Amino acid sequence: MFPTSSNSSQQRPIRVAIVGTGAIARGSHLPALTALAAGQPLEVVAAVDVDADRVAEFCAGAGIAHPYTDLDRMLSEQRPDLVTLATPPSFHRDQTVAALRAGAWVWCEKPPCPSLEDFDAIEASEGSGGGGPYAAIVFQHRFGSGSEHVRGLLEREEMGRPLVAHCQTTWYRDSAYYSVPWRGSWSSEGGGPSMGHGIHQMDLLLDLLGPWAEIRAMAGRLVHDVETEDVSTALVRFESGAMATVVNSVLSPDEVSRIRIDCERATVELTHLYGYRNADWRITPAPGVTSEEADRWRDFGQDVPSSHEAQLKGLLADLRAGRRPRSSGPDGRKSLELVAALYKSAFTGMPVRAGEIVPGDPYYGALHGNAPGWAPERLEVREGAGA
Ligand SMILES: NC(=O)c1ccc[n+]([C@@H]2O[C@H](COP(=O)([O-])OP(=O)(O)OC[C@H]3O[C@@H](n4cnc5c(N)ncnc54)[C@H](O)[C@@H]3O)[C@@H](O)[C@H]2O)c1
Repeated sequence: MFPTSSNSSQQRPIRVAIVGTGAIARGSHLPALTALAAGQPLEVVAAVDVDADRVAEFCAGAGIAHPYTDLDRMLSEQRPDLVTLATPPSFHRDQTVAALRAGAWVWCEKPPCPSLEDFDAIEASEGSGGGGPYAAIVFQHRFGSGSEHVRGLLEREEMGRPLVAHCQTTWYRDSAYYSVPWRGSWSSEGGGPSMGHGIHQMDLLLDLLGPWAEIRAMAGRLVHDVETEDVSTALVRFESGAMATVVNSVLSPDEVSRIRIDCERATVELTHLYGYRNADWRITPAPGVTSEEADRWRDFGQDVPSSHEAQLKGLLADLRAGRRPRSSGPDGRKSLELVAALYKSAFTGMPVRAGEIVPGDPYYGALHGNAPGWAPERLEVREGAGA
């Protein structure tokens, strides 16, 4: 466990290693760590990438002392307290397990890993005696002030019961996007836009509305020459009785990420693309709600944009305190379970209930259910799209 001290001047630095030095490590992990290091003892001591030139250039540019091409060697030589993982999804399980076994906490990029079986192996490798180490998933859209505020309003049922919701990730990706070798296949990316893109909005929806109960879904490959779907739609019923429609697409030229929740006394709507501020949320009261009450609902407080930095700040505090961080363990698993159920429903044509996908179920070990030859019967493929 990380040695704690109530006096921040006596705190020893948290030693961090970044694994995978591509786009998201450069665009989000390093900037978040740099910003947070300004306010607390924290040091990025090493980076790892299989591409020796890339990691050398990354370390030189960021002033990181130790570039590595071998994760195990880095773990044994540097003994980091925290590993931030920004590699392609197929490596997330083994790299997370290796870091946990070396005593490091892990903050792993979404999608968590390619199957529920992988996730459960990760959870089994966390510290069992309390205090960690724990592995949390990057779900940064849970962590802006907007979602914190709306979650509170929903928990307290200030706007009445939630009834109907829309959860939309309608993005656009061209064929150049899929030319990166790890994208578009079940084994390396884990899934299409339901897994790789829509998981962010679905995670936020679950975080706001609580446990889901049942899902019915469809998936199709309408444009891209890939193995996975490029669009999916689903209907989700929540334990509360609320119902949602979900759309995940990489075929939508007018790109938007949207969550809309109709409650008894107000509609809450978030419209953004890759991140939001308070101003991206809109609350429309039902007739009869006083303007004073509606104004209170619309008081989001200090604007904290959704971001890697916002999530990481909380995780570092949890690491120092030895507390399980949000988005780890069962709280990190729930979005992957919903995605697995979405695929199972789409590929079997049957509704899927929460908790149904357990060891022995084909969709436990692989999101495509290990269909022979890897062509799920019910993946609708339009002529001209990749076979
Ligand atoms: N949270 C978000 O909003 C967000 C946004 C984009 C990407 N991502 C996720 O981040 C992850 C990485 O995406 P990216 O766009 O940065 O990819 P990328 O291809 O730009 O970078 C991946 C890096 O990992 C390196 N790598 C590959 N295999 C490795 C291994 N075995 N060990 C060490 N390094 C290895 C590659 O050489 C490359 O430098 C993916 O899971 C992706 O879904 C998350």
